[in-house]
Amino acid sequence: MKRPVRKAVFPVGGLGTRFLPATKAIPKEMLPVLDKPLIQHAVEEARAAGIEEMIFVTGRGKAALEDHFDHSFELEATLKERGKSAELAAVTAPMAKAGRISYTRQQQPLGLGHAVWCARNLVGDEPFAVLLPDDLILGEVPCLRQMVDVYAETEGNVVAVMDVPREQTQRYGVLDVASDDGRLATVRGLVEKPKPEAAPSTLSIIGRYILQPEVFAHLECTPRGAGGEIQLTDALVKLIDGDRPFHGLRFAGRRFDCGDKLGWLEANLAFAMARPDLAPALRRFLAEYR
Ligand code: UTP
Repeated sequence: MKRPVRKAVFPVGGLGTRFLPATKAIPKEMLPVLDKPLIQHAVEEARAAGIEEMIFVTGRGKAALEDHFDHSFELEATLKERGKSAELAAVTAPMAKAGRISYTRQQQPLGLGHAVWCARNLVGDEPFAVLLPDDLILGEVPCLRQMVDVYAETEGNVVAVMDVPREQTQRYGVLDVASDDGRLATVRGLVEKPKPEAAPSTLSIIGRYILQPEVFAHLECTPRGAGGEIQLTDALVKLIDGDRPFHGLRFAGRRFDCGDKLGWLEANLAFAMARPDLAPALRRFLAEYR
């Protein structure tokens, strides 16, 4: 029987060292791309994929994240009083339905695998999505929606992948591919952060996953890997020989690494260029910098 993906885990416990000092007092997931923080972009993507329950694995700056998805009574009352209905709608849009958003705390930043494992009791025994909010994807169909559609056909595990320049494989979990039709790759192995010469391919995982709950048992006994952290990829390897298929989807869209300054700048520009109210003025401004 097919089990739908109803829950999404958002690991937001990282230190965000690449973005200091901006991330000293606020989590990097609260950095805005245009007028929305990264975490809101990610939650909206999950909603567009039919996900009902949001699980945040926080570390610090928890208050700002929680507040963003809650009522702000004073602000809302003031906006109402001043007749600012568009602003009021923008402020209330991120609100989650009561009981549909939960938080757990990763007490030490021991890595992405550890962060996902911290959500095990909130996820329970069902398939779930993982979205890393610092990976922002611009495309016609939201990336996770594309993945859920693939999952409806394949079940098992699905990760979003893209080809990266070979010299960059050390930044990613990289696929060892059994077969590949140009859109879907069947995975036979995974390597975390391989050196370019050791990488089995250039097809690399970005921050979107649909996983089976068996991954939690594997995470439980995953030792620290690359960078001294508990790596999600190391636990995913153990899912490959299980009963269920494991696929990489070359999603349609452009991905921006917003945990990196240049990636974040590019995302702001690309998202603004996609907005008719901003694009003409931005184009004129950029022309001055040629
Ligand atoms: P990154 O690799 O970007 O690490 O994490 P980071 O610590 O957030 O940022 P830098 O590299 O120091 O600048 C990828 C994702 O995994 C989460 C992060 O919040 C981010 O969404 N993460 C990472 C955790 O939740 N906990 C961790 O221990 C590590």
